[in-house]
Amino acid sequence: MVGGLDVPESKVRPRVDLFEYQAKELFAKHGVPVTPGAVALTAGEARSAAEEYGGMVVVKAQVKTGGRGKAGGVKLADSADDAEAKAADILGLDIKGHVVRRLLITPAADIETEYYVSFLLDRANRTYLAMASVEGGIDIEEVARTKPEALAKVPIDALAGVDEAKARAIVAEAKFPADVADQVADVLQHLWRVLVDEDATLVEVNPLVKTPDGQILALDGKVTLDENAEFRHSDHAEYAVQDEADPLEAAAKAKDLNYVKLDGSVGIIGNGAGLVMSTLDVVAYAGEEFGGVKPANFLDIGGGASAEVMANGLEIILSDPQVKAVFVNVFGGITSCDAVANGIVQAFTMLAERGDVVDLPIVCRLDGNNAAEGRRILDEAEHDVVELVDTMDAAARRVAELAAAK
Ligand SMILES: Nc1ncnc2c1ncn2[C@@H]1O[C@H](COP(=O)(O)OP(=O)(O)OP(=O)(O)O)[C@@H](O)[C@H]1O
Ligand SMILES: [Mg+2]
Repeated sequence: MVGGLDVPESKVRPRVDLFEYQAKELFAKHGVPVTPGAVALTAGEARSAAEEYGGMVVVKAQVKTGGRGKAGGVKLADSADDAEAKAADILGLDIKGHVVRRLLITPAADIETEYYVSFLLDRANRTYLAMASVEGGIDIEEVARTKPEALAKVPIDALAGVDEAKARAIVAEAKFPADVADQVADVLQHLWRVLVDEDATLVEVNPLVKTPDGQILALDGKVTLDENAEFRHSDHAEYAVQDEADPLEAAAKAKDLNYVKLDGSVGIIGNGAGLVMSTLDVVAYAGEEFGGVKPANFLDIGGGASAEVMANGLEIILSDPQVKAVFVNVFGGITSCDAVANGIVQAFTMLAERGDVVDLPIVCRLDGNNAAEGRRILDEAEHDVVELVDTMDAAARRVAELAAAK
């Protein structure tokens, strides 16, 4: 959680969660053993893929949420016919709000034992963390809760990384049996390369299985990429494109806006991520007085915000049907408040030209460099919907009040 608000960390730190089949593509690229797989969008495609693998396959819902198996999204099929039928069952299934639109068809593996391994960025402790358990599988959350000693946690120094000695230490800590120790240690080193080389903040394998003939295989994969490192990975672009993001977020991304959709009714625009984060906090705090009014979004228009950026930002926010009032919170720094005020005025003109009538109340707080001139410009423009408030707290209270009254 960030800033005391009910905003998942994932909503604020830019990241891309991969589908299982994409995660396993990266595993394969770095030498983590996986079963082959084919993506199917229809039951017919599932059938063809199953035929190719000889019939005995697992049909797996590709959605970016956990607990697919328990929700009926992972099914074993014993023939191509069966795979087609199972695919028809799973397609369209709603798993925790994620509708299944694609499937992974993969050969069924013989499973003797299911393990769990992962690496993740441990922000609280400013380090990386390895987690491993010989009690993996779909109940790992339960194991972590009721039997924490069965989940080994080993901090990883970011610079030292995971070499063979470290991998063996993790294997020992989690008490992997001797017959798989070498293989698991090897997998851990390859998995660490996925995290480092792909700039991931999470790589997880659950289950990592041992087959009756002693092979170790990753049967499921979860990878979260750090979007800040996107520029280093032109091959990751396809992952972002295929992401089934919120339509407003997708529209904002197309306009290069740093926007995150939230669930409340106060649209927020600010310059600078820190300022916007604290604006979310003060609005949520002020909103408590008005029956729990909350922010509708995060939108940072950055330092040198032009009128066009302001217009694009307002356009996105106003197209969110949940928004009842907007808070424009600007602290003039390098970009002075008069420039921002002119931007706001021009944004209204631009929106009018695009056929958008701004009819929701907009509370503006301008402070910092040349604030007085900025306020004068907004005053003079005499927009009925714009209200100037001097301080951030008072503006937050006013916008919450206006949103509650709508
Ligand atoms: N290729 C496979 N062959 C045999 N069994 C499989 C295969 N893939 C998955 N399974 C079985 O299905 C279970 C659930 O699969 P998986 O881990 O992929 O989904 P999940 O854990 O329910 O989803 P999530 O990890 O998103 O919570 C596994 O623990 C394993 O027992
Ligand atoms: Mg799993």
